[in-house]
Amino acid sequence: MWRRAVSACGEAEMPSPRGLPFIGTVLDIFAAGGTSRLHEYVDARHRQLGPVYRESIGPVKCVFVSDPSEMRRVFSLEGKCPRHLQPDPWVLYNKMYGCKRGLFFMDGEEWLRFRRTMNTLMLRPDSGDAVVKPIDTVADELVARWARKYSGDELPRLDRELYRWAIDIMMAVLTGDKYLKHRLELEDVVDRFASVVHLIFEESARLSLIPAKMAAFLKIPAWKNFVSAIDEAISLAHDLTTRMIPECQNGEGLLGAILAEGIEDKDVIRIVADLFIGAGDTTANSTQWILYLLARNPNLQEELHVELQKVYGCDEVAQLPLLRGVVKEALRLYPTAPFLTRYLPQDNLIGGYHVPAGDLILLSIYTSGRDEKNFPKPNEFWPHRWTRDSDGNYKGVSNCFASLPFSMGARSCIGRKIADLQMTLTTAKVIQRFKMELIEKKSIDMTLRLVPVPSRPVRLRLTER
Ligand code: HEM
Repeated sequence: MWRRAVSACGEAEMPSPRGLPFIGTVLDIFAAGGTSRLHEYVDARHRQLGPVYRESIGPVKCVFVSDPSEMRRVFSLEGKCPRHLQPDPWVLYNKMYGCKRGLFFMDGEEWLRFRRTMNTLMLRPDSGDAVVKPIDTVADELVARWARKYSGDELPRLDRELYRWAIDIMMAVLTGDKYLKHRLELEDVVDRFASVVHLIFEESARLSLIPAKMAAFLKIPAWKNFVSAIDEAISLAHDLTTRMIPECQNGEGLLGAILAEGIEDKDVIRIVADLFIGAGDTTANSTQWILYLLARNPNLQEELHVELQKVYGCDEVAQLPLLRGVVKEALRLYPTAPFLTRYLPQDNLIGGYHVPAGDLILLSIYTSGRDEKNFPKPNEFWPHRWTRDSDGNYKGVSNCFASLPFSMGARSCIGRKIADLQMTLTTAKVIQRFKMELIEKKSIDMTLRLVPVPSRPVRLRLTER
């Protein structure tokens, strides 16, 4: 239990761990396993200090929040142009090399203008229709390739397979039929791009506890590697987008729709380049967790297989309750962004504590997603919890706002419809075609490399049904 202290002026003082001058609690974080285990470190702090507490992580002063109603309050106070944390190394890179970036790195009126246009293209109710076909085609090809090459055997390097698949889907969504026709000529570029996006996340995770300016000034290897990976990714993304723009001038795919909005080519290129980067690590890793969790549960695979036999169209598949439960449950246990971030435009009370405008607030969704107040049997993979009982209530969810993998509010993930469709349709096709089993049965831990990744490779054996 935590106790609320009161300051000399009578205001409740936010709980906070003791730290050393200048370095705060960095040594505690290292002792707990470093940034790769930050989710567990913060989880333990919430248990010790309560649902709202303050701590300096390296040089950054942070307020952590794990209570779902306080999290919703933060979103309700975020203002017209919400601001989130942009990783230090990326911001410094953009500044040093004069690089103009896409939505994630925009702020204020510029962000609002582009975001409104992209919302109408990517999030309106019928926006899923245009992306179903390209996603379905790429997913079909993935399972056909796996059947041809790995049936009865181990699927080597699942992570690479899924990176490639994620970039392939993004290309197909952006350019529709055009990409599907030009796929072979672009194969090498797409392969290279998939590896470089992977590398960016690895390298920027290495920089997370060192101030970026210091890393750049000292030119440490992690900084040099980060710069070269990001240089290459941005130039490949620019190259791919520039090549596809003339092909899509007549309105093909999402790229054609963006061009039809009259956005200048230079802005289209930076927005699209960042869609690629945003789409790579996120869906690839989430799908890796989905397949891992299913491979551990043969009975669930069979139950899903039965559910899938009753439907034919992609739209129906994407709505199947158990399949949806599997995806939601994997994202609850392994949220791609274990912390959502906001800077509020005004002073506010959060959890009864004063939080000045501009303080960094981190919403601990790893903790809220595994809190038994919100989810009974919180550490269990139980997809049925997301199915409904006869009164229409979720069977095992006490507070659905406690799991927010795509965030909430005006700045939530712009790619969530695409991501959702690609994960559900691909999982469905894998289950329809194969039985999966794990080659190493020991359970796999989650480690943070900006996004949660398996601590060792997921080794799957696929057997055709
Ligand atoms: C499992 C898949 C995914 C997850 C869990 C995920 C999650 C997130 C989260 C948590 C944010 C931050 C929102 C905030 O600050 O409140 C975000 C932003 C963003 N995501 Fe995703 N994402 C996924 C897939 C994708 C895909 C496929 C794309 C591209 C098509 C994408 C593009 C973006 C962009 C551009 C932003 C920045 C939006 C802005 O600042 O306005 N994401 N995503």
